[in-house]
Amino acid sequence: MIEVINLEKRYDLGGETIKAVDNVSFTIDQGEFMAILGHSGSGKTTLLNLLGGLTRPSGGTVRIDGQDIWELSDNQLSALRNEKMNFIFQFASLIPTLNVIDNLLLPTVFGRKNSAELHGRALELLDTVGLADKAKAYPSQLSGGQQRRVAIARAFINQPMVVLADEPTGDLDEETEQEMIDLFRSMNKEHNTTFIIVTHSSHLAGQTDRQMRMTAGRLEQA
Ligand SMILES: Nc1ncnc2c1ncn2[C@@H]1O[C@H](COP(=O)(O)OP(=O)(O)O)[C@@H](O)[C@H]1O
Ligand SMILES: [Mg+2]
Repeated sequence: MIEVINLEKRYDLGGETIKAVDNVSFTIDQGEFMAILGHSGSGKTTLLNLLGGLTRPSGGTVRIDGQDIWELSDNQLSALRNEKMNFIFQFASLIPTLNVIDNLLLPTVFGRKNSAELHGRALELLDTVGLADKAKAYPSQLSGGQQRRVAIARAFINQPMVVLADEPTGDLDEETEQEMIDLFRSMNKEHNTTFIIVTHSSHLAGQTDRQMRMTAGRLEQA
C-alpha cells in the first residue's frame, strides 16, 4: 500500500516558484489499477517521480507499506525501488549500445537471481509483447513503437509490486495499445501488481478501476 501525505514539489525559477505538485494526499491499495489524467504541465511526471522515490519532495512524504521512504538511507531506498517498483518512462529509454535482451535484463543487474531463469523470463516477456524475433536487435533497429514495447516488457522483469507508467502507450497504434492494456491487466490480476498509469488516452483510462485528474499540481477524483 502507498500513502501519499500532503505531498509538495516546488521549483524555484529565477524568483518565481512553481508548485508542480501542490498538497496532494491519497492512498493506493495493493492491486489497484488506476489512471492519472491531466494536461501537459499539470505535474503528472513530477508526481510519479515522487511516488517512486526518484525525486525528493519539498514537503510531505510517501509511505510504502507503512515505511516513510525519506527516512531510508540512499541504499535502502534503492533496494526498495529495485525490489518493489518499476517505471515505464514517458520516453522509451533503452540503452542504445545494448541489444534488446540485455536491455530487458538491465533492472536485474543489482539482484541476485538465477541468470538462466531470468534469461528465460526475458524471452517470455518479449514473446508477450510480440517481439520474440527481436532479442538480438539493437534499439536503433526497432521502430518507436517496438522500442516502447521493449520498455514495457522490461518493467515486468523483476515482478514488481508496483508499476509506475508515464504515457506508456503514447506512441502505439490502437491495436498494440489494447494488447499492452491487456498485458497490464493480466499482470494486475495474476500477481496483484499495483498500476498507476499516467495517460492522455481515454481508451486506456476507461479500462482502469479508478481515475484521478491533475490540474495545476492538484489531484482530484476524475
Ligand atoms: N526539473 C524541473 N525544474 C523546473 N521546473 C520543472 C521541472 N520539472 C518540471 N517542472 C515544471 O513543473 C510543472 C509540472 O511538470 P510535469 O510534472 O513534467 O508535468 P506533466 O508531466 O503533467 O506534463 C511544469 O510547469 C514544469 O515546467
Ligand atoms: Mg509528463
